[in-house]
Amino acid sequence: MCGIIGYTGQKRALPILLEGLRRLEYRGYDSAGVALVDRNGLSVTKAAGRIFVLEQLIDTQLPQTHGIGHTRWATHGAPTDVNAHPHVDATDRIALIHNGIIENNRALRTYLEQQGIEFRSETDTEVLVQLIAHFYDGDLEAAVRRALHDVTGTYGIAVVARDELGVIIAARKGSPLIVGVGKGEHLLASDPAAILAHTTQVVYLDDGEMARITPDELRLTTLDAVPVARGVEEVEWSLEQIELSGYDHFMLKEIFEQPEAIETCLRGRIDLTEGAVRLGGLVDCTRELTRAKRIILTACGTAWHAALVGEYLFEELVRIPTETEYASEFRYRNPIIDDGTVVIAVSQSGETADTLAALAEAKQRGALTLGVVNVVGSTVARESDEGVFLHVGPEIGVASTKAFTGQVAVLAMIACYLGRRKHMSPTAAMQFISALAQIPDQMRRFLKNAEQTEGIAEQYCNRENWLYLGRGYNYPVALEGALKLKEISYIHAEGLPAAEMKHGPIALITKGMPVVVIATAGVQYDKILNNIEEVRTRGGSVIAIATEGDKEIQSMAEHVVYVPDTIEPLQPLLTSIPLQLIAYHAAVKRGCNVDKPRNLAKSVTVE
Ligand code: F6R
Repeated sequence: MCGIIGYTGQKRALPILLEGLRRLEYRGYDSAGVALVDRNGLSVTKAAGRIFVLEQLIDTQLPQTHGIGHTRWATHGAPTDVNAHPHVDATDRIALIHNGIIENNRALRTYLEQQGIEFRSETDTEVLVQLIAHFYDGDLEAAVRRALHDVTGTYGIAVVARDELGVIIAARKGSPLIVGVGKGEHLLASDPAAILAHTTQVVYLDDGEMARITPDELRLTTLDAVPVARGVEEVEWSLEQIELSGYDHFMLKEIFEQPEAIETCLRGRIDLTEGAVRLGGLVDCTRELTRAKRIILTACGTAWHAALVGEYLFEELVRIPTETEYASEFRYRNPIIDDGTVVIAVSQSGETADTLAALAEAKQRGALTLGVVNVVGSTVARESDEGVFLHVGPEIGVASTKAFTGQVAVLAMIACYLGRRKHMSPTAAMQFISALAQIPDQMRRFLKNAEQTEGIAEQYCNRENWLYLGRGYNYPVALEGALKLKEISYIHAEGLPAAEMKHGPIALITKGMPVVVIATAGVQYDKILNNIEEVRTRGGSVIAIATEGDKEIQSMAEHVVYVPDTIEPLQPLLTSIPLQLIAYHAAVKRGCNVDKPRNLAKSVTVE
């Protein structure tokens, strides 16, 4: 989705803006642009396509020390040069970049056209810059404030004016913005990755706030001009974490980062000597949580699959009725939230529009809300009552991998934390925690010998239809495996609870159709062998994910990928990894752009 970068300071702005834009590429975009300001006026360059197209159009030696840059993911208006941001008002005095949607743009456009203003593009964003110019009389901050009062919709904006050298005005409603604090310089970004090369000191803007940024000063106010005092925070991510570091793709890097990521996620939170889980983010609401009558987990996509694992965990360990809801459905179906309902929003980015809307709905109806989020400072993190961070480091690959295992690990810890306070015996908790503590090493061991997944991908990557089957805790993993394959290799894949296959989808199975079956040791092992038999009888090619040491399965499957043994509730942490790798290799073999899959954006900030 769209990305924002801004710079005001002593250095040349253009290289900083272009580098920031490249760091935002992973979010998905279809055009890019920059506006630079100096005494000669505004210099705006923008183009449809990749950032290198923009670079070819611009003199990279330009000396300005003040400017803004944008990557656009088209919503209103096609991805053309004209519709790319920055947008400039009709008098060429003001330039603006915008993430979000101005919902009343048509009414505002009609009004402005009646005032004689001529528009150059079809975008809702141009409406906003024209409106700001309409109110501008030499004070950009005042004009932006005035214009935003007439706007409905969502925005993260950065605005510069020809006659206000060194000044960037930023405002946020529903679309994240942070200000990076340097020495004699400030940066502005929609994502910490864009500015991490320059500073880790940041100030987060909240919804309904504006910032006036100059090289030496950052002034925060509400939209109504009430001053806001907010401290500087440290971003915990390192530059290395957002670079490829020798890997071909971020997705592959992040798959291989999982052992360390989960180690960091668990660090300081599980205590093997006492068999206890400690979650600082839940301390203040533990009483309320243990008294909960119902838990609703809400999320989208991969996070929804992790939430579904969470549902199984909560019901088994905590014995509180739990449901998993697509965030987009939850919001619009008049959900029943009564006393004792806890709503947990699960999200890597913490900026997914549907998840945010579900969270807002839950809060408005009086639920206690928790966020299970990766990005510190994100909107879900800020808007939830309490929560637990994943701490798996930045996820740049569009296909979510380490965030999935991080979400499952956090939900497992929450389940054990609450379970121990309800029905779980000390021995059961100790066994659970010991198994959890072994997961990073087990992941490491699996990843050391994972080449087999590449051969499997090679053999079947030209098959256009795949099935993924799992039972119990591995049913969500089947869904996740299918999603991974679909989104990066564009192969059609369906994930199912294995037993459901015979209620219809079995009709799809033809000779040689790849069917991935997660058949690890557990209470339903015999049942899943039956399902494998059903597939084989119809000619399907079975790729089984099985527990190390299981010889029986070898005669039943074309391929067996072994994962280390763990308790059933934690199996998704291991069984998901071969499926991530199969999807990755299939996509590479089909020549797909793994880190920039077609039509996808990293963080879906529109509903
Ligand atoms: C798939 C994927 C998406 C996200 C979904 C939610 O690989 O990444 O399905 O999981 O868009 O995103 P977050 O977790 O940021 O809310």
